[in-house]
Amino acid sequence: MKIAIVPGDGIGKEVIPAALSVLDAFGLDIEKIPLEIGYGKWKRTGSALTDDDINLIKDCDCVLFGAITTPPDPNYRSVLVRLRKELDLYANIRPFSPLKTVKLPCAKKFDFVIVRENTEGMYSGVEELHEDAAYTTRVLTRKGCERIAERACALAKPRKKNITVVHKANVLKSDSFFRDVCTGVAKRNGISYNEMLVDAMAYDLILRPEKYDVIVTTNLFGDILSDEAAAIAGGLGLCPSANVGDRYALFEPIHGSAPDIAGKGIANPIAAILSVRMMLEWMGEMESAKSISRAVDNVLQQGIVTPDMGGSYSTVDVSDAIAKMVNR
Ligand code: NAI
Ligand code: MG
Repeated sequence: MKIAIVPGDGIGKEVIPAALSVLDAFGLDIEKIPLEIGYGKWKRTGSALTDDDINLIKDCDCVLFGAITTPPDPNYRSVLVRLRKELDLYANIRPFSPLKTVKLPCAKKFDFVIVRENTEGMYSGVEELHEDAAYTTRVLTRKGCERIAERACALAKPRKKNITVVHKANVLKSDSFFRDVCTGVAKRNGISYNEMLVDAMAYDLILRPEKYDVIVTTNLFGDILSDEAAAIAGGLGLCPSANVGDRYALFEPIHGSAPDIAGKGIANPIAAILSVRMMLEWMGEMESAKSISRAVDNVLQQGIVTPDMGGSYSTVDVSDAIAKMVNR
Protein backbone atom coordinates (compact mmCIF):
# COMPACT_ATOMS: atom_id res chain seq x y z
CA MET A 1 0.00 0.00 0.00
CA LYS A 2 1.38 3.40 -1.01
CA ILE A 3 0.06 6.52 0.75
CA ALA A 4 0.63 10.15 -0.23
CA ILE A 5 1.13 12.15 2.98
CA VAL A 6 0.00 15.79 2.68
CA PRO A 7 0.24 17.63 6.03
CA GLY A 8 -0.60 20.97 4.32
CA ASP A 9 -0.52 24.14 6.43
CA GLY A 10 -1.07 25.31 10.02
CA ILE A 11 -2.14 22.54 12.40
CA GLY A 12 -2.09 20.07 9.49
CA LYS A 13 1.68 20.00 10.10
CA GLU A 14 1.04 18.98 13.72
CA VAL A 15 -1.91 16.59 13.55
CA ILE A 16 -0.66 14.55 10.57
CA PRO A 17 2.68 13.56 12.17
CA ALA A 18 0.69 12.78 15.35
CA ALA A 19 -1.70 10.55 13.39
CA LEU A 20 1.21 8.87 11.60
CA SER A 21 2.76 7.94 14.96
CA VAL A 22 -0.43 5.97 15.66
CA LEU A 23 -0.39 4.35 12.19
CA ASP A 24 3.29 3.40 12.67
CA ALA A 25 2.43 1.57 15.89
CA PHE A 26 0.80 -1.17 13.78
CA GLY A 27 3.95 -1.94 11.77
CA LEU A 28 1.96 -2.44 8.56
CA ASP A 29 3.64 -2.73 5.17
CA ILE A 30 2.99 0.85 4.04
CA GLU A 31 5.09 3.12 1.85
CA LYS A 32 4.67 6.83 2.67
CA ILE A 33 5.24 9.48 0.01
CA PRO A 34 5.50 12.96 1.62
CA LEU A 35 4.18 15.83 -0.53
CA GLU A 36 4.22 19.58 -0.01
CA ILE A 37 0.92 21.11 -1.13
CA GLY A 38 -0.86 24.26 0.03
CA TYR A 39 -0.39 27.88 1.07
CA GLY A 40 3.24 27.45 2.16
CA LYS A 41 4.08 26.08 -1.26
CA TRP A 42 2.03 28.81 -2.96
CA LYS A 43 4.05 31.49 -1.10
CA ARG A 44 7.31 29.80 -2.09
CA THR A 45 6.51 28.90 -5.71
CA GLY A 46 3.30 30.69 -6.72
CA SER A 47 1.45 27.37 -7.04
CA ALA A 48 -0.38 25.46 -4.29
CA LEU A 49 -0.74 22.22 -6.27
CA THR A 50 1.11 21.24 -9.46
CA ASP A 51 0.43 18.68 -12.19
CA ASP A 52 3.48 16.78 -10.88
CA ASP A 53 1.86 16.58 -7.44
CA ILE A 54 -1.31 15.17 -9.03
CA ASN A 55 0.74 12.59 -10.95
CA LEU A 56 2.62 11.53 -7.80
CA ILE A 57 -0.69 11.19 -5.96
CA LYS A 58 -2.20 9.15 -8.79
CA ASP A 59 0.71 6.76 -8.40
CA CYS A 60 -0.37 6.12 -4.76
CA ASP A 61 -3.37 4.17 -3.49
CA CYS A 62 -4.70 6.87 -1.21
CA VAL A 63 -3.93 10.20 0.47
CA LEU A 64 -3.74 11.23 4.12
CA PHE A 65 -4.44 14.97 4.12
CA GLY A 66 -4.13 17.56 6.91
CA ALA A 67 -5.57 20.95 6.01
CA ILE A 68 -4.72 23.82 3.73
CA THR A 69 -4.86 27.56 4.37
CA THR A 70 -6.70 29.33 1.54
CA PRO A 71 -4.23 31.76 -0.11
CA PRO A 72 -5.36 35.41 -0.42
CA ASP A 73 -5.58 35.25 -4.23
CA PRO A 74 -8.84 35.96 -6.12
CA ASN A 75 -7.77 33.53 -8.87
CA TYR A 76 -6.94 30.71 -6.43
CA ARG A 77 -8.65 27.44 -7.24
CA SER A 78 -9.34 25.22 -4.23
CA VAL A 79 -6.75 22.45 -3.93
CA LEU A 80 -9.26 20.07 -2.38
CA VAL A 81 -11.93 20.73 -5.00
CA ARG A 82 -9.32 20.03 -7.69
CA LEU A 83 -8.06 16.85 -5.97
CA ARG A 84 -11.61 15.57 -5.52
CA LYS A 85 -12.24 16.06 -9.24
CA GLU A 86 -8.88 14.79 -10.53
CA LEU A 87 -9.11 11.62 -8.41
CA ASP A 88 -12.88 11.36 -8.97
CA LEU A 89 -13.51 11.15 -5.21
CA TYR A 90 -17.25 11.45 -5.62
CA ALA A 91 -18.38 10.45 -2.12
CA ASN A 92 -17.52 12.44 0.99
CA ILE A 93 -18.34 10.23 3.95
CA ARG A 94 -18.56 11.82 7.36
CA PRO A 95 -19.59 9.68 10.34
CA PHE A 96 -20.86 11.36 13.50
CA SER A 97 -21.37 9.68 16.84
CA PRO A 98 -20.28 11.20 20.12
CA LEU A 99 -17.12 9.70 21.62
CA LYS A 100 -17.28 8.48 25.20
CA THR A 101 -16.91 11.15 27.91
CA VAL A 102 -17.33 14.00 25.43
CA LYS A 103 -19.68 16.61 26.88
CA LEU A 104 -22.34 17.30 24.29
CA PRO A 105 -24.58 20.28 23.74
CA CYS A 106 -27.50 17.87 23.16
CA ALA A 107 -28.48 15.15 25.62
CA LYS A 108 -29.25 12.26 23.28
CA LYS A 109 -26.96 9.59 21.83
CA PHE A 110 -26.79 9.43 18.05
CA ASP A 111 -24.92 7.66 15.27
CA PHE A 112 -25.38 8.92 11.73
CA VAL A 113 -23.29 9.35 8.62
CA ILE A 114 -23.50 12.15 6.08
CA VAL A 115 -22.85 11.04 2.49
CA ARG A 116 -22.12 14.19 0.54
CA GLU A 117 -21.81 14.32 -3.25
CA ASN A 118 -18.29 15.61 -3.76
CA THR A 119 -17.64 16.44 -7.43
CA GLU A 120 -20.58 18.45 -8.78
CA GLY A 121 -23.49 20.59 -7.52
CA MET A 122 -22.53 24.14 -6.49
CA TYR A 123 -18.82 23.19 -6.62
CA SER A 124 -18.88 22.16 -10.30
CA GLY A 125 -16.65 25.13 -11.12
CA VAL A 126 -19.01 26.63 -13.71
CA GLU A 127 -18.86 30.28 -12.72
CA GLU A 128 -18.96 33.76 -14.24
CA LEU A 129 -17.99 36.96 -12.50
CA HIS A 130 -19.15 40.20 -14.19
CA GLU A 131 -19.18 43.82 -13.10
CA ASP A 132 -22.81 43.82 -11.94
CA ALA A 133 -23.66 40.16 -11.57
CA ALA A 134 -22.12 36.80 -10.71
CA TYR A 135 -23.28 33.33 -11.71
CA THR A 136 -22.58 29.88 -10.30
CA THR A 137 -24.14 27.01 -12.21
CA ARG A 138 -25.27 24.06 -10.12
CA VAL A 139 -24.70 20.97 -12.24
CA LEU A 140 -26.24 17.66 -11.17
CA THR A 141 -25.89 14.71 -13.56
CA ARG A 142 -27.76 11.41 -13.53
CA LYS A 143 -24.44 9.56 -13.23
CA GLY A 144 -23.36 11.77 -10.29
CA CYS A 145 -26.67 11.37 -8.44
CA GLU A 146 -26.88 7.62 -9.11
CA ARG A 147 -23.42 6.83 -7.82
CA ILE A 148 -23.76 8.87 -4.62
CA ALA A 149 -27.17 7.26 -3.97
CA GLU A 150 -25.64 3.80 -4.60
CA ARG A 151 -22.87 4.61 -2.10
CA ALA A 152 -25.44 5.71 0.50
CA CYS A 153 -27.50 2.52 -0.04
CA ALA A 154 -24.37 0.36 0.32
CA LEU A 155 -23.64 2.06 3.65
CA ALA A 156 -27.27 1.67 4.75
CA LYS A 157 -27.38 -2.09 4.07
CA PRO A 158 -25.45 -3.27 7.16
CA ARG A 159 -27.03 -0.45 9.21
CA LYS A 160 -30.75 0.37 9.38
CA LYS A 161 -31.49 -0.10 5.67
CA ASN A 162 -32.81 3.44 5.43
CA ILE A 163 -31.55 6.63 3.82
CA THR A 164 -32.66 10.22 4.36
CA VAL A 165 -32.51 12.22 1.12
CA VAL A 166 -31.87 15.90 1.89
CA HIS A 167 -32.78 18.45 -0.79
CA LYS A 168 -34.65 21.66 -1.55
CA ALA A 169 -36.92 20.21 -4.21
CA ASN A 170 -39.77 22.56 -3.32
CA VAL A 171 -37.73 25.38 -4.92
CA LEU A 172 -34.91 23.93 -7.04
CA LYS A 173 -35.52 21.80 -10.14
CA SER A 174 -32.02 20.34 -9.86
CA ASP A 175 -33.01 19.08 -6.43
CA SER A 176 -36.21 17.40 -7.57
CA PHE A 177 -33.96 15.62 -10.09
CA PHE A 178 -31.57 14.63 -7.26
CA ARG A 179 -34.46 13.42 -5.09
CA ASP A 180 -36.03 11.36 -7.88
CA VAL A 181 -32.77 9.66 -8.82
CA CYS A 182 -31.95 8.90 -5.14
CA THR A 183 -35.35 7.47 -4.32
CA GLY A 184 -35.23 5.36 -7.51
CA VAL A 185 -31.84 3.93 -6.51
CA ALA A 186 -33.12 3.23 -2.98
CA LYS A 187 -36.15 1.32 -4.35
CA ARG A 188 -33.91 -0.69 -6.69
CA ASN A 189 -31.72 -1.66 -3.72
CA GLY A 190 -34.57 -2.54 -1.35
CA ILE A 191 -33.62 0.35 0.96
CA SER A 192 -36.37 2.43 2.56
CA TYR A 193 -36.08 6.21 2.36
CA ASN A 194 -37.45 9.41 3.74
CA GLU A 195 -36.95 12.98 2.58
CA MET A 196 -36.09 16.21 4.34
CA LEU A 197 -35.90 19.77 3.05
CA VAL A 198 -32.43 21.06 3.87
CA ASP A 199 -33.58 23.96 6.05
CA ALA A 200 -35.82 21.70 8.12
CA MET A 201 -32.92 19.24 8.32
CA ALA A 202 -30.57 21.91 9.70
CA TYR A 203 -33.10 22.47 12.49
CA ASP A 204 -33.96 18.83 13.18
CA LEU A 205 -30.35 17.63 13.24
CA ILE A 206 -29.78 19.70 16.37
CA LEU A 207 -33.05 18.79 18.07
CA ARG A 208 -33.35 15.11 17.11
CA PRO A 209 -30.02 13.74 15.81
CA GLU A 210 -30.92 10.26 17.09
CA LYS A 211 -33.58 9.99 14.35
CA TYR A 212 -31.02 9.80 11.53
CA ASP A 213 -28.82 7.04 10.16
CA VAL A 214 -27.55 7.52 6.57
CA ILE A 215 -28.08 11.01 5.17
CA VAL A 216 -27.41 11.61 1.47
CA THR A 217 -27.24 15.09 -0.02
CA THR A 218 -25.65 17.39 -2.59
CA ASN A 219 -22.24 19.05 -2.28
CA LEU A 220 -22.95 22.44 -0.66
CA PHE A 221 -25.74 21.18 1.62
CA GLY A 222 -23.46 18.34 2.79
CA ASP A 223 -20.63 20.77 3.44
CA ILE A 224 -22.82 22.93 5.68
CA LEU A 225 -24.71 20.13 7.46
CA SER A 226 -21.49 18.30 8.30
CA ASP A 227 -19.96 21.30 10.11
CA GLU A 228 -23.23 21.61 12.01
CA ALA A 229 -23.03 17.91 12.86
CA ALA A 230 -19.44 18.38 14.12
CA ALA A 231 -20.72 20.97 16.58
CA ILE A 232 -23.23 18.55 18.10
CA ALA A 233 -20.68 15.69 18.12
CA GLY A 234 -18.24 17.52 20.37
CA GLY A 235 -16.22 19.79 18.07
CA LEU A 236 -14.18 20.03 14.89
CA GLY A 237 -11.13 18.51 16.59
CA LEU A 238 -12.88 15.12 16.80
CA CYS A 239 -14.45 14.57 13.37
CA PRO A 240 -12.81 12.60 10.53
CA SER A 241 -13.83 12.13 6.91
CA ALA A 242 -13.19 9.95 3.87
CA ASN A 243 -13.36 11.16 0.27
CA VAL A 244 -13.77 8.03 -1.83
CA GLY A 245 -14.12 7.11 -5.46
CA ASP A 246 -13.93 3.80 -7.28
CA ARG A 247 -10.10 3.88 -7.57
CA TYR A 248 -8.66 6.37 -5.04
CA ALA A 249 -9.46 7.69 -1.58
CA LEU A 250 -8.39 10.69 0.51
CA PHE A 251 -8.74 10.81 4.29
CA GLU A 252 -8.77 14.08 6.24
CA PRO A 253 -10.00 15.66 9.43
CA ILE A 254 -12.93 17.93 8.61
CA HIS A 255 -11.31 20.93 10.32
CA GLY A 256 -9.13 23.50 8.57
CA SER A 257 -5.59 24.74 9.28
CA ALA A 258 -6.65 26.68 12.44
CA PRO A 259 -4.12 29.54 12.16
CA ASP A 260 -5.28 30.82 15.58
CA ILE A 261 -3.65 27.85 17.37
CA ALA A 262 -1.07 26.71 14.79
CA GLY A 263 2.49 26.27 16.08
CA LYS A 264 1.42 26.00 19.73
CA GLY A 265 1.36 22.19 19.83
CA ILE A 266 -2.16 22.14 21.27
CA ALA A 267 -4.27 21.07 18.26
CA ASN A 268 -6.49 18.09 18.95
CA PRO A 269 -5.09 15.18 16.90
CA ILE A 270 -8.14 12.92 17.33
CA ALA A 271 -9.89 13.97 14.08
CA ALA A 272 -6.71 13.12 12.15
CA ILE A 273 -6.22 9.86 14.09
CA LEU A 274 -9.83 8.83 13.38
CA SER A 275 -9.18 9.69 9.71
CA VAL A 276 -6.37 7.10 9.86
CA ARG A 277 -8.92 4.70 11.33
CA MET A 278 -11.19 5.31 8.30
CA MET A 279 -8.17 4.76 6.02
CA LEU A 280 -7.43 1.41 7.72
CA GLU A 281 -11.07 0.36 7.24
CA TRP A 282 -10.82 1.27 3.56
CA MET A 283 -7.65 -0.88 3.33
CA GLY A 284 -9.52 -3.79 4.95
CA GLU A 285 -7.43 -3.61 8.17
CA MET A 286 -10.54 -3.93 10.34
CA GLU A 287 -8.85 -5.10 13.56
CA SER A 288 -6.35 -2.23 13.53
CA ALA A 289 -9.18 0.21 12.81
CA LYS A 290 -11.20 -1.06 15.79
CA SER A 291 -8.15 -0.90 18.01
CA ILE A 292 -7.81 2.83 17.23
CA SER A 293 -11.42 3.44 18.32
CA ARG A 294 -10.82 1.58 21.59
CA ALA A 295 -7.57 3.45 22.27
CA VAL A 296 -9.19 6.85 21.58
CA ASP A 297 -12.05 6.02 23.98
CA ASN A 298 -9.57 4.92 26.65
CA VAL A 299 -7.43 8.02 26.36
CA LEU A 300 -10.51 10.24 26.53
CA GLN A 301 -11.67 8.37 29.62
CA GLN A 302 -8.29 9.00 31.25
CA GLY A 303 -8.77 12.72 30.59
CA ILE A 304 -5.70 13.00 28.35
CA VAL A 305 -7.19 15.76 26.18
CA THR A 306 -6.16 19.02 24.50
CA PRO A 307 -7.42 22.50 25.57
CA ASP A 308 -10.36 22.49 23.09
CA MET A 309 -11.79 19.67 25.25
CA GLY A 310 -10.95 21.37 28.53
CA GLY A 311 -7.61 19.61 29.09
CA SER A 312 -4.04 20.83 29.28
CA TYR A 313 -2.29 18.10 27.28
CA SER A 314 -0.42 18.69 24.03
CA THR A 315 -1.05 17.22 20.57
CA VAL A 316 1.89 14.85 21.06
CA ASP A 317 0.80 13.82 24.60
CA VAL A 318 -2.55 12.69 23.18
CA SER A 319 -1.15 10.89 20.12
CA ASP A 320 1.59 9.20 22.22
CA ALA A 321 -1.01 7.94 24.67
CA ILE A 322 -3.15 6.58 21.81
CA ALA A 323 -0.15 5.04 20.00
CA LYS A 324 0.89 3.24 23.21
CA MET A 325 -2.60 1.85 23.65
CA VAL A 326 -3.34 0.51 20.15
CA ASN A 327 -2.74 -3.17 19.49
CA ARG A 328 -3.42 -3.99 23.14
P1 NAI B 1 -10.75 25.82 11.17
O1 NAI B 1 -11.43 24.49 11.12
O2 NAI B 1 -9.32 25.85 10.78
O3 NAI B 1 -10.89 26.43 12.64
C1 NAI B 1 -12.14 26.78 13.23
C2 NAI B 1 -11.97 26.84 14.77
O4 NAI B 1 -11.86 25.51 15.28
C3 NAI B 1 -10.72 27.58 15.21
O5 NAI B 1 -11.00 28.29 16.38
C4 NAI B 1 -9.73 26.48 15.49
O6 NAI B 1 -8.76 26.80 16.46
C5 NAI B 1 -10.63 25.34 15.97
N1 NAI B 1 -10.08 24.03 15.59
C6 NAI B 1 -10.10 23.46 14.37
N2 NAI B 1 -9.47 22.27 14.39
C7 NAI B 1 -9.04 22.10 15.65
C8 NAI B 1 -8.30 21.06 16.30
N3 NAI B 1 -7.88 19.96 15.65
N4 NAI B 1 -8.01 21.21 17.61
C9 NAI B 1 -8.43 22.28 18.29
N5 NAI B 1 -9.12 23.29 17.74
C10 NAI B 1 -9.42 23.20 16.43
O7 NAI B 1 -11.59 26.80 10.22
P2 NAI B 1 -11.28 28.31 9.78
O8 NAI B 1 -10.65 29.06 10.90
O9 NAI B 1 -12.54 28.79 9.20
O10 NAI B 1 -10.24 28.18 8.58
C11 NAI B 1 -8.82 28.35 8.71
C12 NAI B 1 -8.17 28.07 7.37
O11 NAI B 1 -8.38 26.71 7.00
C13 NAI B 1 -8.79 28.91 6.22
O12 NAI B 1 -7.73 29.30 5.35
C14 NAI B 1 -9.72 27.93 5.54
O13 NAI B 1 -9.91 28.26 4.17
C15 NAI B 1 -8.98 26.63 5.70
N6 NAI B 1 -9.83 25.42 5.68
C16 NAI B 1 -9.28 24.32 5.10
C17 NAI B 1 -9.94 23.12 5.09
C18 NAI B 1 -9.26 21.94 4.50
O14 NAI B 1 -8.13 22.04 4.04
N7 NAI B 1 -9.91 20.81 4.45
C19 NAI B 1 -11.28 22.97 5.70
C20 NAI B 1 -11.75 24.18 6.34
C21 NAI B 1 -11.04 25.37 6.33
MG1 MG C 1 -16.40 22.56 4.89
